[in-house]
Amino acid sequence: MVELLRLENVTKEYSRGLFGGTRFRAVEDVSFKVDKGKILALIGESGSGKTTIARIILRILRPTSGRVIFEGKDIFAFDAEESAAYYRNVQGIFQDPYSSFNPLKTVDDILELTCKKYTCSEYPENAIKQVLERVGLDPQSVLGKFPHQLSGGQLQRVSIARALLVKPRLLVADEPVSMLDASTRVDILNILYDLKTGENISTLLITHDVSQAYYVGDEIVVLYRGHVMERGDATILEKPLHPYTTNLLASVPTLSSRWATEEKIRAARLRLEAEEETVYTTTGCKYASRCPYASEKLGCFTRKPPEIEVEPGHFVRCWLYERR
Ligand SMILES: Nc1ncnc2c1ncn2[C@@H]1O[C@H](COP(=O)(O)OP(=O)(O)OP(=O)(O)O)[C@@H](O)[C@H]1O
Ligand SMILES: [Mg+2]
Repeated sequence: MVELLRLENVTKEYSRGLFGGTRFRAVEDVSFKVDKGKILALIGESGSGKTTIARIILRILRPTSGRVIFEGKDIFAFDAEESAAYYRNVQGIFQDPYSSFNPLKTVDDILELTCKKYTCSEYPENAIKQVLERVGLDPQSVLGKFPHQLSGGQLQRVSIARALLVKPRLLVADEPVSMLDASTRVDILNILYDLKTGENISTLLITHDVSQAYYVGDEIVVLYRGHVMERGDATILEKPLHPYTTNLLASVPTLSSRWATEEKIRAARLRLEAEEETVYTTTGCKYASRCPYASEKLGCFTRKPPEIEVEPGHFVRCWLYERR
């Protein structure tokens, strides 16, 4: 496998509290790599730091420490020419396609503008038709229309088409299908899969939905409160080792799990609020306050676990797997 992009011990601190007096780490010591022609699924619940990581990779944010390496070079040490090439090579796709486009411009205006900005082809019209067809759209049905005249699924296809116009190497897709209905979701995930197999385009798929990650992910990274808890190939979701991953998989709702009563939702919210402070102040594992296996003896409440390579390529950040 050939590496395309690598995160090395990336940490991002933000200010929090009144007047931004205290700092907290939204992302801490995150390392993983995306290979050429592969899909890496980054899974995590709300607030775990997924979008922060996407923004760092897209160079919208600088990490507080750590490095992001693209084809062997630190993306924050690029010169102007390398930066321009990077902005072409790495394209973002976002959750809400309606807010990704200027509502006053038609689809052709939008795509022509991108084509002009990146001089995508000598024949922009042909290039635009080609990418629209590539994402399963009939050009006639979308050209000349404004974003609000398209469905969410059609518009998300247009955003992928726009990204493809500049022939990227990596797509950073932040919850690209969360706002779409189930069948459209699968269609869009299938497009990402086809781009991988057909054009060797890699994707960092960010999602809170484990089933999406398992559906298309070659590699999986499980994030919790800014920490990578477990990572490895897709089979780690079949045999998860970290107690958090196990819990995440067990909490996937199914047709037979109808239990979300008001009382249970309120109890869960109260528990989360109580945990919030311990999680920010803990010197130990971020998951310790929720973990059924956490113990003083293992040091879960006082010592931060390192990433432990339990088997080749399968990393778990948990004291249970420390070799003694
Ligand atoms: N600019 C900012 N200033 C301060 N805190 C921030 C900022 N941006 C994000 N955060 C905080 O950092 C943490 C991680 O946020 P982030 O948006 O990366 O999470 P996420 O995993 O993408 O969540 P979601 O699934 O809800 O999109 C959250 O606690 C969030 O409140
Ligand atoms: Mg997010």
